[in-house]
Amino acid sequence: MTDLVATARSLFAPGKGILAADESVHTATTRLSHYGIATSAEMRRQYRDLFLGAEGIEEYLSGVILFSETLSQKGNDKKAFPKSLAARGVAPGVKVDLGTEPFPSSPEELITQGLLDLAERLQMYKKQGALFTKWRAVIRIDGDQLPTSVALHENAKRLASYAKEVQTAGLVPILEPEILLEGTHSRMRSRAVIEETMQTVFSVLEEHSVDRASVIIKTSMALSGAESGKKDTPEEVAEDTLSALIASVPRQVAGIVFLSGGQTPDEATANLAAIAKHAKRANAPWPLTFSYARALQDEALALWKGKEENVPAARAAYLARLAKVSAAVLG
Ligand code: G3H
Repeated sequence: MTDLVATARSLFAPGKGILAADESVHTATTRLSHYGIATSAEMRRQYRDLFLGAEGIEEYLSGVILFSETLSQKGNDKKAFPKSLAARGVAPGVKVDLGTEPFPSSPEELITQGLLDLAERLQMYKKQGALFTKWRAVIRIDGDQLPTSVALHENAKRLASYAKEVQTAGLVPILEPEILLEGTHSRMRSRAVIEETMQTVFSVLEEHSVDRASVIIKTSMALSGAESGKKDTPEEVAEDTLSALIASVPRQVAGIVFLSGGQTPDEATANLAAIAKHAKRANAPWPLTFSYARALQDEALALWKGKEENVPAARAAYLARLAKVSAAVLG
């Protein structure tokens, strides 16, 4: 087994998963202002410290995806965040895409930027302690019109170029083609789009000779659109999510992680538990775990409100959610 494959597989240690703490400055500002917290670089540092500095996270987290700004910040313990995570056995990773822009050939769809100076940035992130990386593509469903196959293909090409570059630099790539929850679509449509997206991604990865064994896939669950008026049961979500992934993700990948995508923390936990159970029954060929941002952080942020005196209560809520999500993934 190569070092890269070993690193990728270590992120799937039993009962452990990944915290996505990689909100860009823009997204972090939106999230914090939702809870009445004004942002600055120092406030974002405190926000990161709330989640990264909490005692006991190593029981539930195998890795954390950081935003590039956080790689060079220090926690309240005066240690650089990547160093203090690594010292506790939690692998530091970094989001390396630079966000999305409209796709000129289909302007209602988005393509992801960040390939131009990627090689140089990877060298820097590696020196700062990153062991793995993430690139997010955004796929929107609109009836049978979107996504178009041309946009899916362009996003897949960029994911493949990213993955190749990252493996060459000696880091593990997480490929995240996120199917947005927003929309009026059915769960079946979501399932079909997950399947088509993954098939497109893997056929382009093949053309780019990307080594599947150190690739991690980050995916949405098959869910009815947020504006569909339909609530899916965890069993429905599990069955359709796994059918889509079994039909489209090769057995050789290091594993699959799920994003929460705007589900409540309880929904993301219950759906994950059903997926983990169903995966065992179906003998799914890859390990699975969580890589949540909102579903792990929202309850704590609502309690924290940017105030030092609220840190213990906020961290207690965060650790309680981590314990539930970890139990869910153990099936
Ligand atoms: O890019 C999105 C994050 O990696 C996952 O965030 O769990 O809030 O959807 P989420």
